[in-house]
Amino acid sequence: MSAFSARTDFPRTWNALARALAERRARGLPLLDLTETNPTRVGLPAPELASLAHPGALGYAPEPQGLLSAREAVAAHLATRGAHVSPAHLLLSASTSESYGWLFKLLCEPGDNVLIPAPSYPLFEYLTRLEGVETRTYRLPRAHGFGLDVEEVAAARDARTRAVLVVNPGNPTGHFLREGELEALGRLCAEAGLALVSDEVFSDFAWDEDPGRVPTVAGRELPMLTFSLSGLSKVAGLPGLKLGWMHVGGPDALRDEALARLELVADTYLSVNTPVQLALPGLLAHAPRFQVALLERVKENRRLLLQARPRDARWDVVPAHGGWSAVLRIPLEPGEEAMCLALLDEGVGVQPGYFYDFSGGAFLVLSLLPPPDVFARAMEPLVRVLATSG
Ligand SMILES: Cc1ncc(COP(=O)(O)O)c(C=O)c1O
Repeated sequence: MSAFSARTDFPRTWNALARALAERRARGLPLLDLTETNPTRVGLPAPELASLAHPGALGYAPEPQGLLSAREAVAAHLATRGAHVSPAHLLLSASTSESYGWLFKLLCEPGDNVLIPAPSYPLFEYLTRLEGVETRTYRLPRAHGFGLDVEEVAAARDARTRAVLVVNPGNPTGHFLREGELEALGRLCAEAGLALVSDEVFSDFAWDEDPGRVPTVAGRELPMLTFSLSGLSKVAGLPGLKLGWMHVGGPDALRDEALARLELVADTYLSVNTPVQLALPGLLAHAPRFQVALLERVKENRRLLLQARPRDARWDVVPAHGGWSAVLRIPLEPGEEAMCLALLDEGVGVQPGYFYDFSGGAFLVLSLLPPPDVFARAMEPLVRVLATSG
């Protein structure tokens, strides 16, 4: 018998790609790193940090939901996105990841499951398993441009399903939830008693205008319990400050019960530090500057990628509408990992699609955050190595 819980028994062996990357770094070889998604490492504007030295920062008067002044700042931020919400329906946490953990505690008995999209962000397996919760996958069909197909969601469900997770826009697929999809999802969730957990960390990063998309479920009249998640890590490019938020919505009685229970969960940890809560209005006031610079960066790098693609290439840039990544569909041979290793040999780091549970083809994922001179230098070896595939 193990001394440890099965839910912390994660595989810890490195895959060939991680080993090759570490080896390359250890040998001091140059790397054009198109896997870099940390916004603090790519030369984007950072805010003044003087506000973290607020005179009240050493005080401690914890409010489980988060300081009212901080929740008011989040409500004001959401209002600029057209979502009018009450601070009473907001809850602060240390990160979106922590918010997920609290929601799984709130919604699931051990052994219950939540529906997760594929392809998507790879952390869900960990976040759920640590709470004793299982996942069932619904596919985002490529034929829908990796958009949501409610039939797939309905088919993935079983008697122990408690919630549907959507990532809006998808990471790394950059596809926004659409009004019709939300309506269909609302019907399904209301009928089956499922909550909707909407991860909106990238929703401020749309590349184009489209009135048919849903930027957030916060502040919407919906027939099911809804949780809309975001935080400073993406909205202001400040993952190190550790502040996330969730908006709780849905039918009044369900919403209020959820808030009361979440308040208890939050009170058990009180994990959000006071200085960052006091500084939040100033940090959110900085967010537009960061977002404008990031969007300019992402669009320029995407333009470089589209421009570098030869007309007769056997690979494509998958259409998308937002986020921080580009997805390439590549020929099946020699395979995603072999292609990543071949690119690494030429000094270019990219991620294989299987990291994000893509299926129905071979894919590569490129971060669009690196400085354009780095991104531009990666284009020649990328195009050359991809020309050998298929
Ligand atoms: C879709 C998505 N949700 C949540 C997170 C985690 O955000 P946080 O830093 O707030 O935990 C990430 C981080 O990359 C993400 O891509």
